[in-house]
Amino acid sequence: MERVTAGGVLQLALAGAGVLLLFRILTRLRPGASLQDAVVVITGASSGLGKECARVFHAAGARLVLCGRDAARLQQVVQELTASSTGSQQQTHIPSTVVFDLADRDTVDGAAQEILRCHGHVDVLISNAGISYRGNILDTHISVQRDVMETNYFGPIALTQALLPSMVRRRSGHVVVISSVQGKIAIPFRSAYAASKHATQAYFDCLRAEVERYGIHVSVISPGYIRTNLSVNAVTGDGSKYGVLDRNTAQGRDPAHVAQAVLKAVRQRSKDVVLAGPLPSLAIYLRTLWPALFFKLMSSRACKEQKPKDE
Ligand SMILES: NC(=O)c1ccc[n+]([C@@H]2O[C@H](COP(=O)([O-])OP(=O)(O)OC[C@H]3O[C@@H](n4cnc5c(N)ncnc54)[C@H](OP(=O)(O)O)[C@@H]3O)[C@@H](O)[C@H]2O)c1
Repeated sequence: MERVTAGGVLQLALAGAGVLLLFRILTRLRPGASLQDAVVVITGASSGLGKECARVFHAAGARLVLCGRDAARLQQVVQELTASSTGSQQQTHIPSTVVFDLADRDTVDGAAQEILRCHGHVDVLISNAGISYRGNILDTHISVQRDVMETNYFGPIALTQALLPSMVRRRSGHVVVISSVQGKIAIPFRSAYAASKHATQAYFDCLRAEVERYGIHVSVISPGYIRTNLSVNAVTGDGSKYGVLDRNTAQGRDPAHVAQAVLKAVRQRSKDVVLAGPLPSLAIYLRTLWPALFFKLMSSRACKEQKPKDE
C-alpha cells in the first residue's frame, strides 16, 4: 500500500480549496435571473427595509404587491414609487397593495387569495414584516412571547403555505425570508425575537429541501443591525411599545444597501446570506465551534446590561 505523505495531504487540501474557490467564483459570475415583469410580493412594505426593497424591485421592473397593516402608508409608498419612475430606463409597473395583519390568523388565507388575484401568480415572496422585542424573560408575559411569534413566525409561514400550492403547480417560485443574525445566535434580553428568528431559520431550511424538486428556491437573509424604526416599534415584556431608537440600530446598515443585497440574493438564488460585520460573524462561528466561550460572553453581556432582580 502506498504511504500517504504530509506533502500529499497538503497538495490534496490545496486542490480541494482551489475547486471550492472556483465554484464560488463561478456561482458569483452566474447571470442573475431577470426581474422584469416578475410578480414580487413584499410584506412590511410600508417602512424600513420593506420600503427599500419595494424601491429596488420596482426599479428592476417587477410587478409589486405591497403588503402591510396600514392602507394609507402603503398608498404613500405606491405614490413615491410611481413618481420616481418618470424617466426610468426600465419598464416599471404601478404596484398593487393588500392590507392585512400577519398576526391575525383568520385573515392570512384570505390575504393570500387577494395577492394571487392581483396577477394570477407569485414569482417572488419577500417575507420581510416583523416586530422586535426588548425585555427580561423574568418580567415578560407569556402572551408577549406568543404575539411576537405570531407576527414573526406563524403569520409568515401561514402566508408562505397559502401561496406555495400555486408555486408548486407552476413548478417555479422563490421564497425569501428576512431573518436576522439573531436567527443564528441568541443574545440576552431579546428572547421572543431571537426565538422567532431561530424558528424562521429552521422552518425555511426545511422548506428549501422539500420544495427544491418543484423548482422553488428559498433564501434566508440574516442581517445585523439596520437603520430603521425596528427598535422604536419593538414591544416590551408587558406588551407596551419600547419606543427608543437603540444606538446599535441607529448606527446600523443603510436599509437601501440591505435591499440591494436582497435583490442580489434573489437574482443569484442564494440559499443563506449573512449580512453582518466581523464581530457578529465571528460570534456565529463561536456558537458552533466553541459554545462554552460564547455562553460566557453572553452571560457577561447580560450582567453588564442589567443587575439581578434582588440587587
Ligand atoms: N432593523 C434591524 O436592525 C433589523 C436587523 C435584522 C433583521 N431585521 C428584520 O427586517 C425586517 C424589517 O424590519 P425593519 O427593520 O424594516 O423594521 P420596521 O421599519 O419596523 O418595519 C417593520 C414592517 O413590518 C410590518 N409589520 C409589523 N407587524 C406587522 C403585522 N402584524 N402584520 C403585517 N405587517 C406588520 C410594518 O408594517 P405596518 O406597521 O405598516 O403594518 C413595517 O412595514 C424584520 O423582519 C426585522 O426582523 C431588522
